[in-house]
Amino acid sequence: MKNNLLANVSHELRTPLVTIRGYAELIQSGESGPVSADQKKQLSISLRNIDKLMVLINNLLEFSNLEVNRDLLLKEKIDLRSIIEEVWKVFVPQFKAKNIVYRLNLPDAPVYVRGDEGKLHRVFANLVDNAQKFSKVGGIVELNVKNNNDRIEITVEDTGEGIPESALRKVFDRFYQVDPSSTRKHGGVGIGLAISKSIYDG
Ligand SMILES: Nc1ncnc2c1ncn2[C@@H]1O[C@H](COP(=O)(O)OP(=O)(O)OP(=O)(O)O)[C@@H](O)[C@H]1O
Ligand SMILES: [Mg+2]
Repeated sequence: MKNNLLANVSHELRTPLVTIRGYAELIQSGESGPVSADQKKQLSISLRNIDKLMVLINNLLEFSNLEVNRDLLLKEKIDLRSIIEEVWKVFVPQFKAKNIVYRLNLPDAPVYVRGDEGKLHRVFANLVDNAQKFSKVGGIVELNVKNNNDRIEITVEDTGEGIPESALRKVFDRFYQVDPSSTRKHGGVGIGLAISKSIYDG
């Protein structure tokens, strides 16, 4: 029942947010009338925060759905590069806003895997979101994909404060955050990695 409630609430939250985002973007584009440079800047701050809320709501939605639909993971043949490129694109404005040097290193040839595109998207989005969020202004975020025959190695690296050794296991627990004031400082509630792990385990 709790999961259903969570799924419904997050769904209900997402619908109006999509509309709010759409209109904010429309106004920013100037299509519905002239917009001053100041207003553009203010709207882009709004949009950034709308996107933060979106990530949070999508996580909650994913979190509640996962528990229910574990059996529904798809096994499609997909090129990992296209998923990762798509995720990366979403974060570029945030990298730029924090003056982060960002590098995406993909192999030239397709990297085929069998998996659930939407779920894999969530895993990478959560890892890159963390890398971006816990990076200092002017830091470096790097995503590398290496294809060694039957083994694909993907790393997401950042030059932020890192995770203390003692917390390495705990970060996959639901709602665990190394810094208890993280929610206030950076947003998020500590479920991104729990979701990612349960997708990986699933
Ligand atoms: N790249 C990183 N650098 C430093 N700490 C990290 C990094 N990734 C994760 N952590 C630590 O692990 C904790 C759990 O990460 P997780 O993604 O599950 O939650 P969150 O990012 O705090 O919130 P949410 O993902 O729900 O928005 C974080 O709060 C942080 O303390
Ligand atoms: Mg996170």
